[in-house]
Amino acid sequence: MKIAVVGTGYVGLVTSTCLAESGNEVVGIDKDAQKIATLKAGKIPIYEPGLLELVARNTREQRLTFSTDLLGTVKDAELIFIAVGTPQSANGAADLSALWAVGDAMAPHLRPDALVVVKSTVPVGTNRQLMERMSKVAGRAIETASNPEFLKEGAAIDDFMKPDRVVVGVRRAEVGQKLQDLYGPFLRTEHPFLVMSPESAEMTKYVANAMLATKIRFINEMANLCEKLDADINEVRRGIGHDQRIGFQFLFPGPGYGGSCFPKDVNAVIHLANSYDSPVALLEAVDRVNERQKHVLPAKIRKHYGKNLKGKCLGIWGLAFKPRTDDIREAPALTLIDEMLKEEVQLRVHDPEAIANARAIYGDRLTYCDRPYSALEGVDGLAIMTEWPEFRRPDFEVMRRLMREPAIFDGRNLFEPKAMQAVGFTYYAIGRATP
Ligand SMILES: NC(=O)c1ccc[n+]([C@@H]2O[C@H](COP(=O)([O-])OP(=O)(O)OC[C@H]3O[C@@H](n4cnc5c(N)ncnc54)[C@H](O)[C@@H]3O)[C@@H](O)[C@H]2O)c1
Repeated sequence: MKIAVVGTGYVGLVTSTCLAESGNEVVGIDKDAQKIATLKAGKIPIYEPGLLELVARNTREQRLTFSTDLLGTVKDAELIFIAVGTPQSANGAADLSALWAVGDAMAPHLRPDALVVVKSTVPVGTNRQLMERMSKVAGRAIETASNPEFLKEGAAIDDFMKPDRVVVGVRRAEVGQKLQDLYGPFLRTEHPFLVMSPESAEMTKYVANAMLATKIRFINEMANLCEKLDADINEVRRGIGHDQRIGFQFLFPGPGYGGSCFPKDVNAVIHLANSYDSPVALLEAVDRVNERQKHVLPAKIRKHYGKNLKGKCLGIWGLAFKPRTDDIREAPALTLIDEMLKEEVQLRVHDPEAIANARAIYGDRLTYCDRPYSALEGVDGLAIMTEWPEFRRPDFEVMRRLMREPAIFDGRNLFEPKAMQAVGFTYYAIGRATP
């Protein structure tokens, strides 16, 4: 099948590569000429485990190509996926300008049998609006479908190749069948292919993210309360997780959720609900308290050093909003960095993949370290912001020798408080008392 994927970001690049891997002829399109040049040169503009190898194989075998030429490409495509960004706009709603721009531009150039599939996360009703708008521009009926994406950065290829489920929103059964054929190679283990209306598919994506954000927010709130009550959230977590109605997944306390999706999608649902006069008070609280959670670790740091924060030097392990990605959008590490820079704290930061993205924001205001231990040289403390696997079993002896003061502010609860005390650290975690 000839497929065009518009947008070669985290979702678009994974989608185009995995669809090429299953034998389709795919062109990834982006308006960012620099990204396309990078891809054409055999590199990838993001970090995602396993993606580089897969892109290389499929470009070598000429199933996957890249272009900035939207109109020249879509005129031959049977399926066009739209995977452009839908960031948060100033009023909290999703900014759909990229989606409309792509739809308007390509509408007159599509093949008569072309199907336009929206992968970007969009408010309920967008698919219908896109169909109507494109049909008007083209002067004939254009078919659109919804196919929300559930991949997780850091495990995106596995999630795409072996999805828990594939959701499509269609208006005609044949369109559902066409997409089921496309996804067949990824659903060989009997995972469900769910066909519903475009409105339900669009809502499914928002409800999934709202639920996950709520779980994180819930456990963070309980963690903060545990600290006050001398209870340990890790023990409580184990105590509740075995209840099958609750489970363990997504109940890890931390420094507040970040990433490109949860914050903007929660806000988009709030905005959507308000515009239908059906406010979602729970989600409003989730968003508000998540922002507050990002200040919990900075507050612990301030409390530890008292008034003497200015001139201190802090090491930071982890900038990405989660491990195995270079994505720092809305990452809690950014809140910590901003607060510490305001207090004139010097920062030595390390992340296995996200340093280039941080440098693009902070320039020479931070000291970038390409190894975890070099971020500890002469520091008065270490903040852990991302649970990269390589941070889990460090040499504490070496750490103590490098650090001026052995204080750790662990936003990810990587270690046991008592064990840390035994190896000579003052150790602060989330929802667990400092011994
Ligand atoms: N990142 C995730 O984990 C994830 C997961 C599921 C769903 N989503 C959703 O998928 C969508 C894309 O997210 P992302 O993280 O890949 O975004 P991204 O910012 O990484 O990529 C978007 C790409 O679209 C390109 N683009 C914008 N306007 C364009 C235009 N007019 N023509 C061609 N290309 C254009 C940009 O240059 C960019 O490369 C969003 O709606 C997001 O909510 C993201």
